[in-house]
Amino acid sequence: MALLLPLIFLLKIQRVYSADNGWGVNYSSSSICALKGSTVIINCTYKYSTGHQIMKVFWTNTYVKADHEEFPDLSKDSKYSQRIQYLGDKHHDCTMRLTDVRQTDSHKYYFRFTTQIEKDKWLGRPGVTLDITDLQVESSGERVIEGHSVTLTCKSRCSLTDRSTFIWFKNTQSLSERTDRNNQLILQSVTRNDSGNYSCAVQGQNLTSPHQYLNVICKYKLNNLNPSF
Ligand SMILES: *[C@@H]1O[C@H](CO)[C@@H](O)[C@H](O)[C@H]1NC(C)=O
Ligand SMILES: *[C@@H]1O[C@H](CO)[C@@H](O)[C@H](O)[C@H]1NC(C)=O
Ligand SMILES: *[C@@H]1O[C@H](CO)[C@@H](O)[C@H](O)[C@H]1NC(C)=O
Ligand SMILES: *[C@@H]1O[C@H](CO)[C@@H](O)[C@H](O)[C@H]1NC(C)=O
Ligand SMILES: *[C@@H]1O[C@H](CO)[C@@H](O)[C@H](O)[C@H]1NC(C)=O
Repeated sequence: MALLLPLIFLLKIQRVYSADNGWGVNYSSSSICALKGSTVIINCTYKYSTGHQIMKVFWTNTYVKADHEEFPDLSKDSKYSQRIQYLGDKHHDCTMRLTDVRQTDSHKYYFRFTTQIEKDKWLGRPGVTLDITDLQVESSGERVIEGHSVTLTCKSRCSLTDRSTFIWFKNTQSLSERTDRNNQLILQSVTRNDSGNYSCAVQGQNLTSPHQYLNVICKYKLNNLNPSF
């Protein structure tokens, strides 16, 4: 009997905390990758049993374990207050907007709501993982010999949406006539004129990668430098 009691207790707890009973939070996606400086909108819906009145609605990114402590409201955090906006309501919409995202925003975010009944409140776990990335040009070779080809890739730490269109710049001039695969710029049979500083960006976004210098070496020069070549 002494062994059975804790077991019953556990079962009870599980039942109370299971995500049924008409309570829950749904997010548009469980993880979002966004470019530094961009605006992120997290679509969100929530529900609860009838007879409840919603008191507080807010977003948090700190999971507080202690029962008596409330989760911190991001809109009251000076790092977020100017950039976070609750676009939802006190009924079923909990959509949130975060503008000008930065590397330090890479975090897990949860929607929290409380009701007029002290113990009836909800945290939308497992939340949404936000990953903020910048862009980097990666070259298949920094020194390329005339006549060879080179592939430049616009890299980000996490994968952006498939809909992203990449644009390329050479010495800050847009290479708008280029149509290349995905996030790559392929230069076939390069000449010395292809030497220069290359950078990339995503269409509709303000962020541009730092530039990568591409050095096209003349075949003749290379032979002179390396007589045994
Ligand atoms: C969020 O909702 C808006 C409006 O309903 C929609 O245009 C947008 O595509 C949604 N975003 C995601 C990530 O589902
Ligand atoms: C979340 O989505 C599921 C499946 O579409 C739906 O059954 C459930 O009612 C939704 N919950 C909320 C809180 O909107
Ligand atoms: C490329 O960038 C380097 C370093 O920023 C700069 O010194 C150089 O003048 C640039 N070259 C061109 C062609 O713009
Ligand atoms: C490089 O550019 C210059 C000036 O635009 C042009 O006169 C020359 O023919 C080009 N050379 C090659 C190998 O394309
Ligand atoms: C780009 O920057 C301008 C000026 O800072 C701003 O108004 C605009 O909303 C930004 N665009 C995006 C997609 O972040």
